[in-house]
Amino acid sequence: MARKARGARGSSLGVALVGTGFMGRAHANAWRQAPCFFDLAPRPVLQAVAGMKAAPTRTFAERWEVARASTDWKGVLRDPKVQLVDVLTPNHLHAPVAIAALKAGKHVACEKPLAGTLEDARAMAVAAAAARGRTFVWFNYRRCPAIGLARQLVREGRLGTIRQVRARYLQDWGGAATPMAWRFDAKLAGSGAHGDLNAHLVDLVRFTTGHEIAEVCGAIEATFVKSRRAGTRTSASTVDDATLFLARLSNGATASFEATRLATGNQNASQLELNGTKGSVRFDFERMNELAWWDHTLPARERGWSRIMCTDASHPWVGAYWPAAHLIGYEHCFTSMAADIARALCGQTPVLPLPDFADAFRTQCVLHAATVSARERRWVKPAEFA
Ligand SMILES: NC(=O)c1ccc[n+]([C@@H]2O[C@H](COP(=O)([O-])OP(=O)(O)OC[C@H]3O[C@@H](n4cnc5c(N)ncnc54)[C@H](O)[C@@H]3O)[C@@H](O)[C@H]2O)c1
Repeated sequence: MARKARGARGSSLGVALVGTGFMGRAHANAWRQAPCFFDLAPRPVLQAVAGMKAAPTRTFAERWEVARASTDWKGVLRDPKVQLVDVLTPNHLHAPVAIAALKAGKHVACEKPLAGTLEDARAMAVAAAAARGRTFVWFNYRRCPAIGLARQLVREGRLGTIRQVRARYLQDWGGAATPMAWRFDAKLAGSGAHGDLNAHLVDLVRFTTGHEIAEVCGAIEATFVKSRRAGTRTSASTVDDATLFLARLSNGATASFEATRLATGNQNASQLELNGTKGSVRFDFERMNELAWWDHTLPARERGWSRIMCTDASHPWVGAYWPAAHLIGYEHCFTSMAADIARALCGQTPVLPLPDFADAFRTQCVLHAATVSARERRWVKPAEFA
């Protein structure tokens, strides 16, 4: 039986980070910055951090001004000063940490993908449904103002009916030169480019179009680099380097998804294109402050791609930061999300909807359907796994 999730203590919301790596730093920064830019009551306060090794975890805590450092995440979950546990570990630990935190009566924010496997993701969604604590998943690209604007244009009918969606996330990880890490081990990561990058794309397509992914087909997954350097030895690399698939959305629109870590020269090209009967939009994270819009309702002689600088105070979240065209960056998406989580926990409405475990489970079902489609070479409906 889940214990009642505690609200914030007085005027603060105690946050514990589990994980001190790339996302550990991104989230520590976000929780610290959020109350500086947004009016938040209660204010998030970093009460604890759990890492693998004592010395680096202590250094992390000193640098980011976290009250307590520990190598025992279970102990951190018992800390009464902690109301929200932020899970920033390799994917295989998302389920054990998140489920234990929910059972301890905490709110949980978890990094994406929800889990490495469908089974873990399902267990997390079930635990969340039974818990009193709220859940959140860090699909942070939802909080790019340009993505928020794309969603608003779709909802206002400015693009008409969405017919065609193109989503691709291209990265270049340097091929076999990159040494072994948890991300290349299927037991720890679940999948490679697919769970890492397609997870973001599937969430973005669902978020911006408002349509579910009804079925997928034509999926292809490939592992080109099969072993990697691990110190003086080599280790098997057991995840996909690239996964591509086609899909049909619940409104009948067609969609294509591409995720790869082997697109030489593409560093973080997360790109989305929505084509509707009245217009189209294009987004590329490498120019994250901009949204390109083709308004097909204009007279033919006036039509063309316009480049909207999404840095006006009228764009989502931007009013909290800098004046127009004083650009924002990667970290602001996390800060805006931390602020929205804090708002949601005190009964306020976030600027745009936040994904919870139930929502992220639907994305996980799409990822699983694509993997089944690739392996069995057939159409697959994500709803089969829900
Ligand atoms: N939202 C995004 O855009 C984004 C970007 C990168 C990573 N991620 C996700 O964030 C998660 C972490 O990725 P990362 O890039 O930060 O990885 P990382 O390798 O940089 O860090 C992982 C951290 O987990 C910690 N850890 C591992 N086992 C632990 C244990 N038993 N107890 C406590 N800590 C433990 C490690 O010490 C390390 O600090 C993954 O799920 C990944 O998919 C999301």
